[in-house]
Formats: sequence, structure tokens, C-alpha cells
Amino acid sequence: MVRVKAAIVKQKSGPFVVEEIRLDDPRDDEILVHVHATGVCHTDFGVRDQNYPVPLPAVLGHEGAGIVEKVGANITKVVPGDPVILTYASCGRCGNCHQGLPGFCDDFYAHNLAGCRLDGSSTLSGAAGEKISGCFFGQSSFADRAIVTERNVVKVPKDVPLDLMGPLGCGIQTGAGAVINTLRPRPGASIAIFGAGAVGLAAIMAARIVGCSPIIAVDIKDNRLALAEELGATHVLDGAAVDAVEEIRVLTDGGALYSLECTSLPTVFRQAVECLRIPGVCGLIGAAALGTEVTFEMASILFGRTVRGIMQGDCVPDVFVPQLIDLWRRGVFPFDKLIEFYDFDDINQAVHASESGAVIKPVIRTGRK
Ligand SMILES: NC(=O)c1ccc[n+]([C@@H]2O[C@H](COP(=O)([O-])OP(=O)(O)OC[C@H]3O[C@@H](n4cnc5c(N)ncnc54)[C@H](O)[C@@H]3O)[C@@H](O)[C@H]2O)c1
Ligand SMILES: [Zn+2]
Ligand SMILES: [Zn+2]
Repeated sequence: MVRVKAAIVKQKSGPFVVEEIRLDDPRDDEILVHVHATGVCHTDFGVRDQNYPVPLPAVLGHEGAGIVEKVGANITKVVPGDPVILTYASCGRCGNCHQGLPGFCDDFYAHNLAGCRLDGSSTLSGAAGEKISGCFFGQSSFADRAIVTERNVVKVPKDVPLDLMGPLGCGIQTGAGAVINTLRPRPGASIAIFGAGAVGLAAIMAARIVGCSPIIAVDIKDNRLALAEELGATHVLDGAAVDAVEEIRVLTDGGALYSLECTSLPTVFRQAVECLRIPGVCGLIGAAALGTEVTFEMASILFGRTVRGIMQGDCVPDVFVPQLIDLWRRGVFPFDKLIEFYDFDDINQAVHASESGAVIKPVIRTGRK
């Protein structure tokens, strides 16, 4: 048992409270990681607001980066001292995991959103021994230490700035993978990306890498549209000021071949389908609250359009994250432009900056070196 500094959500939609709590020692199949930095993602807010029912109190955080401190007896993938990033967890045994689609793991919920290990125990407890949900995305990295497994730890090179790397484990790999792994557009194919947050901007950078044209970004915030243009969008549209569907049809001579929904808003999802040429493909990434419904005119899909849900960019993190790091080193995937750092005690400021749209990807430095 070790003492850790962690940010705890105690009640629905409540603040993140930084406190010292207890973390188990790693079991034989677990790894203890010193978390140096951890990204803030919209999915953290969705769970704070109980759109996904992880039991509270809970420690969230799922884009950690740090150094391996201790490994269980059965661990062979990493050794103490290895720099790693933390990503989502999966079983590694089901059909989808075997086929390279761990984002669609049969046991995704149990591994990422149950708040405990598979045997029901939590890795975390309060100062008086009370239960606190842990294992969020197999990590709960809003803490200066985390327990993870071989399935959701990815080794990174020793010469990269580790504090920048955590967001590769969720938002960034999701947006980039949606283009590179899921949609796989040919060079010259048109794409419209709705929502220029961390996910959408990663998709825009990836669309530029694969040679999409035009690359149309839709958002309602000027600062995000400006960054979208800098990172590769050939056209930007203010979704609050213009009819985005009409504008996209004009810019693409009848409709985009591909679109991505990265806002989680049903009305925008509908636009992302309606802006498509026939037969175009819309990738749905935005994670709306469970129970959210959307309406379409059936004929808008009947004539050959496809809607595809995408989890974590269809990537195998051990393969894809190193590729993204290479692209970043070559200067063609500058995801660091999305990041602003915050001290751990300022986590609520980071959350506010993300929710207000002022900052695209806040990263919390835990202060641990
Ligand atoms: N499927 C997955 O595996 C996965 C992984 C990571 C994140 N997500 C989800 O993806 C979504 C995006 O995440 P993010 O971190 O980029 O969030 P974000 O809040 O940074 O980005 C959302 C963007 O949508 C814009 N927006 C709001 N209303 C709009 C409108 N009417 N038209 C166009 N744009 C509008 C916002 O201004 C913002 O820039 C979230 O729902 C998140 O939970 C899904
Ligand atoms: Zn996320
Ligand atoms: Zn699985």
C-alpha cells in the first residue's frame, strides 16, 4: 500500500478534490507507474456527470504518462525505469482483441468503466479505508501513481518529452486513428470534420498526412477554427453562422466522401451524415450520454451512406502510438500545439479551461519527478 496524491470526484458534476489516498501494491500481473503528467479528456467530464455510471467517489484520468516504478512477478513487457504512456484497457483474449480491435473488446466496460478490477476489488481506498473507484480506463491517472497492466501500458522512447505524450493514449490516437485506420481515405478524397477539439484536430492532422482534399473543419469557436486551419484544414466553417451541410456540398461538388462526428451532439451527427456524397462514410466518435437518441431521414442512409462507430481510432496502441511519435518527430503531426500544462492543484482550472473551450488539451503535471 502506498500513499498517493489524487484528484477525486466525490459527487455527480462536483469538483475534482485533490487529496492523499491509498493505492494497493501491484499484484503479480500489475505494474505500478509514477505518473508525471496526465491529459484531461471530455470523457472524464462525461463520467464526472455520470453519463456513464462509474460509481463515485472515483479517481478518473485516462491519458497518463510516467515511469514504471515496480512490476509484479508475471510482468515481462516493462521494467522499472521504463518511460510509458497509459492507454485504455482490454482483455487481450476475445475475438475482437485477437483481430486487432481492442477498442471493441467484449469486456470493454469491465476493464475501463466498472471502477474496479475484474474481481470487484478497487486499487484505491480513502485515508480511512473507504472504497474509491479506481481502474478508470485501467489506470485512474489523475493521481501521482497508478496501477496498470501489460495490456494498457505502451513503452515510449527515452528521448521524448514524456509530459507531452499522455494524450496520445486516448484523444489524439482516437482522432488520428479514425482517419488512418478506420476511414482510410485515398489521397485526394474529401473529408469534413465536425468539432475541432483535441479529437477533431488530431483527425485534421491525420487527414493532411494521408493527403485528403479538401479538408473541411466545422466548429463554433474562432480560436479552434484558426488552429484547424494551421494544422491542415483547407476550409473552415462556423457551424453557428452558416449552414454547414450546404457549404460542404458546395465545397465538395455534391458532398464529402468522408465525415467525422467529434462533438457528441445529435444535431451535428445528423449534419455529418447529410453532408456526405453517396456512397460516403460518416465515422461517429462523439460520446453522448447513454440513452441519447438521434433522428435521421431513413432515405438519407438508404441510398448507400454508411455510419460507423469508432472506438479509440481502431488502433492497437503498441503499434500506433510509436507511429504517431515518429510522425510528431518529423514535424507532420504537431499535436503538442494543442497542449497546455497545469499544476496538479489547479486541476479544476484545467477542467474549466477545457469546458469553456479556451484550452484544447490541458495536461496536468503531478509534480512528481
Ligand atoms: N470514441 C472514442 O473512442 C472517443 C475517444 C476520445 C474522445 N471521445 C469523445 O469525442 C468527443 C470529442 O472529444 P474532444 O476531447 O475533442 O472534445 P472537445 O470538447 O475538445 O471538442 C468538441 C468540439 O466541438 C465543438 N462544437 C460544439 N458545438 C458544435 C457545433 N454545433 N458544430 C460544430 N462544432 C461544435 C466545440 O467547440 C469543440 O471544439 C467527446 O464527446 C469525447 O467524449 C470519443
Ligand atoms: Zn478520452
Ligand atoms: Zn477483448
